[in-house]
Amino acid sequence: MTRSFAYTPLDTSSWNRSWSGKNIWHRLAQQERTVWDAAFPYQDVRNDKGHIEHVVYFALALLEHWQEPVDRSVAMAGAILHDIGWGLLPKDELALFAPVSDPVAFKRNEPYLRKRHQDLGAIKAREILSRVPGYSLAQIDHAVEIVQGHDTRQGFYSSEDGLARDADKLWRFTLRCFEVYKPGRDALALHRAWIDKPGFFYSDISRHIAAAELAQTEQRS
Ligand SMILES: [Fe+2]
Ligand SMILES: [Fe+2]
Repeated sequence: MTRSFAYTPLDTSSWNRSWSGKNIWHRLAQQERTVWDAAFPYQDVRNDKGHIEHVVYFALALLEHWQEPVDRSVAMAGAILHDIGWGLLPKDELALFAPVSDPVAFKRNEPYLRKRHQDLGAIKAREILSRVPGYSLAQIDHAVEIVQGHDTRQGFYSSEDGLARDADKLWRFTLRCFEVYKPGRDALALHRAWIDKPGFFYSDISRHIAAAELAQTEQRS
């Protein structure tokens, strides 16, 4: 069964903690490096340094065990580009995304901001992928579709959408995410409930990895 493979939780102790993008770059294919480099200036702008490196780490881990046909170029483009829209939001709009300082304002602004970062990200993703050699128009359309709906789509568009979005969600279970957002130990139960919540993850492989990451987070945070 998919849950039976051995997975060791991510150990970032040897990673560069300035999160400057170099921890994962060497593991990417040439085409993916070109996308990564073009996208990096727009990553991790919500005081969430390390997010994109974790997401891409998980996308690579999922690719190793994925049990359905998957177009790696599309899934990796979706994973790398999914959140670049945050880096394209004007500063005054980005400032509205302040969950800690004002939870009421955050709740009010969140749907608008989620849509905005997806819309801006989809436009930029198409621009970036159109300049990278080797992507067909169908692959670009597919990756842009992933970016366009990654936070708001109900259900999954494709195997590639499932992989990219599972990789994004796996971040939430990591030590680093708890370090960034400090949700506290009370949040552990909520995270545990997400793992088996219908529709949360696309794949059992992701559930397996999430459980292992959460166990480490629970133990070490
Ligand atoms: Fe997002
Ligand atoms: Fe994300």
